[in-house]
This record gives sequence, C-alpha cells and structure tokens, in this order.
Amino acid sequence: MTSDQITMPATGTTVLTVEDLRVHLPTENGLLKAVDGVSFTVKAGMTLGIVGESGSGKSLTAKTLLRLNPKDFQESGRVTLHRTATDEELDLLELRRDGSVIRTVRGRRIAMIFQEPMTAFSSLHTIGDQIMEAILLHRTQDRAVAREVCLEAMKKVGIADAERRIDQYPHEFSGGMRQRAMIAMALSCEPEILIADEPTTALDVTIQAQVLELMKQLQRETGMAIVFITHDLAVVAEMCDEVAVMYLGSIVEHAGVREIFKAARHPYTRGLLRSIPRLGMGRSERLFAIEGTVPQAIDMPPMCGFAERCPQRIDGICDTVVPRTLTIGPQHTVRCVLHDPEYAEVSETVTKEQA
Ligand SMILES: Nc1ncnc2c1ncn2[C@@H]1O[C@H](COP(=O)(O)OP(=O)(O)OP(=O)(O)O)[C@@H](O)[C@H]1O
Ligand SMILES: [Mg+2]
Repeated sequence: MTSDQITMPATGTTVLTVEDLRVHLPTENGLLKAVDGVSFTVKAGMTLGIVGESGSGKSLTAKTLLRLNPKDFQESGRVTLHRTATDEELDLLELRRDGSVIRTVRGRRIAMIFQEPMTAFSSLHTIGDQIMEAILLHRTQDRAVAREVCLEAMKKVGIADAERRIDQYPHEFSGGMRQRAMIAMALSCEPEILIADEPTTALDVTIQAQVLELMKQLQRETGMAIVFITHDLAVVAEMCDEVAVMYLGSIVEHAGVREIFKAARHPYTRGLLRSIPRLGMGRSERLFAIEGTVPQAIDMPPMCGFAERCPQRIDGICDTVVPRTLTIGPQHTVRCVLHDPEYAEVSETVTKEQA
C-alpha cells in the first residue's frame, strides 16, 4: 500500500459534524428552502442512513458537503471535517468551492457515489483513465501501480473481464456497469467517508446485494464512515446503524436503526414504515404509501410541513407552529408537537378523540 494512506480513527469517533445546514435556492417563484436546518454527525466505522421521499433534500445535503452546488445557492451553517492523524480540521463551507483544498477532500477524504452514474464520468476518457486519475491524485504517482489498484477495485465490484473493460469508454458500459465503475472509483481511494446516494438503484437485486456486502466489507477493513442515502427502508435495515428521516428539507426524526423500526414516533416515519414492501405486495404498492404531496418549500407559513398529510394533525397547532427538535430518548430526536411537553394536554385530548 502507498505511504499517503489515511490512518482511520477508531470506530465511533466523529469524523464529520454538520450543524444547522441550510441551502436556499433562487427559483422563478421565490427562494426555495430545499435544505433548512439539518444537523447530524458522521462516525468512523458506522453507517448513517438518510431516508425520505423524493425532493426532501437528501442529495442536495450530500452535494453541499462536497461544495458541488452552483454559486447562486445560498449555503449556511457549519460543516466540520475533523482532524485526523495526518489531516487538519476543515470548515468545509468556508472553503473556496473550486479551490485546491476541497479538491483534495473530494475523493481522498470524502468520496461520493452519485445517484446519476453519468455525472461521475466524462464521455471523453476511458473508465480506467478516470478511475486512475483519482488514484494518481490521491494514492500513488506510479501509473503501473495505479492501474493495478484500479483493476483490483473493478474486480471487487464485480466487473468481469476488468483487464479489457478498463480501456473502454463510459458509453460501452451499461447503466449498472457504470454504477459499479463509480463505486470502484469511490472505493479505490479508500476515503474516510463514503457518501452513497442511492448507490444500487440501477442494479438488479443480486448485484445490489453484492455491492452492499462489498461496502460493508470495506467498512470493516478500513473503518470508513458511510452516509447511505436511499428510499429503500429494507436496505436501511440491512446497512445502517442510525437513521435520519428527512422531510421537506429538515430531519424530522433521527434514531438508532432498531429504535426507528421498533419505536418510530413521527407520523411521517410511521407512514414510511407502513410502506415497506411485504411478501405478496404488488410493485405499485411498494412506493411511498403516504397520501398527499409534499408542499413546495417556498414562502411556507410557520407550520409543520407534514401537517396537511398527517393523520394525527392537531388543527390550530400543527398548521401554525414550526415544530422544534425534541430529544425523546438516548440518541433519539423527533420534530413533532405531539411529543412536545408544551402541547401535552391538547395532544392527549386529540389522540384520545382520534382513537
Ligand atoms: N440544481 C438544482 N436546481 C434547482 N432545484 C434543485 C436543484 N437541486 C435540487 N433542487 C431542488 O431541491 C429540492 C431537493 O432536491 P434533492 O435532489 O436534494 O432531493 P432528494 O431528496 O435527493 O430526492 P430524490 O429522492 O428524488 O433523489 C427539490 O425540490 C429539488 O427540485
Ligand atoms: Mg436524490
């Protein structure tokens, strides 16, 4: 292995802290508060799942950490990439988005598997050259060694005939193969943190299982932290240690994975859990089964963004108050007035009436 390899901190050590992250986007209709006050920590050797419906701000949160947003997006909050044995502490939002510091962070300290496999590759260069470019930038200056590392990574993600494939162009790869190549690229740099945004959506079930197992194996071997973004709660159960549930740009519930599956408290999380596929269900029933659509986060009055869809809504409160984040157990937070002591009396009455 090469000399500049990162020494991983002990499992459970906080490697990244996100505090009150906001990303507001100018649109034709006004300012879209696409990410609005998100906080979480990422720990070495552990996997944080981020789940939520389409448009809840999962990908945008991830891209913001790597400073990949266009200039006109208004970003605020604090993202701290903590100090390691060889690297300094960095406040990522303070870095120039095209500067050399963030470029060394990308790939080497934080790697990302993108939701859209084409985003990661240019059509002008071979897959091998592109994976090797990252390896040459971060791990070794020897092209022959880089090619070996690249081949090894391609084989690990199940790309058959890697010796031939390494010299092919992205258009010669199928969607699933490109996804694997992107995973190979992310893993070949042995990052401290891997952000995997719907990494297996384009893959068939067998390959999906293999890729997930591969990520877990690499996590065991290297101690990397994983942020796993997905719609799929079955995958969350399989992969994650803790889960943050996003809705309309905010985390509405956050807890250990067992707690989420056994004792979810937010009506939105409970709705998501009810939409997990069960044996014998048709495919169309598998998607989110919560009725109603997500409102646009533009000019929202002070209220809970889930109020209109919530079966436990308390009229007069949920449509007039922005719920605060409440700690309701060890490592368990929820953002819902039903659990707010301030509204205990009225929510008890309503719950009884509803029952
Ligand atoms: N580049 C962009 N330009 C305009 N709007 C954007 C851009 N990126 C994200 N958005 C908007 O920000 C919101 C959050 O988007 P994001 O891609 O983070 O959702 P997501 O949770 O990843 O959804 P999905 O599950 O569909 O991937 C959406 O309303 C989306 O339309
Ligand atoms: Mg997304």
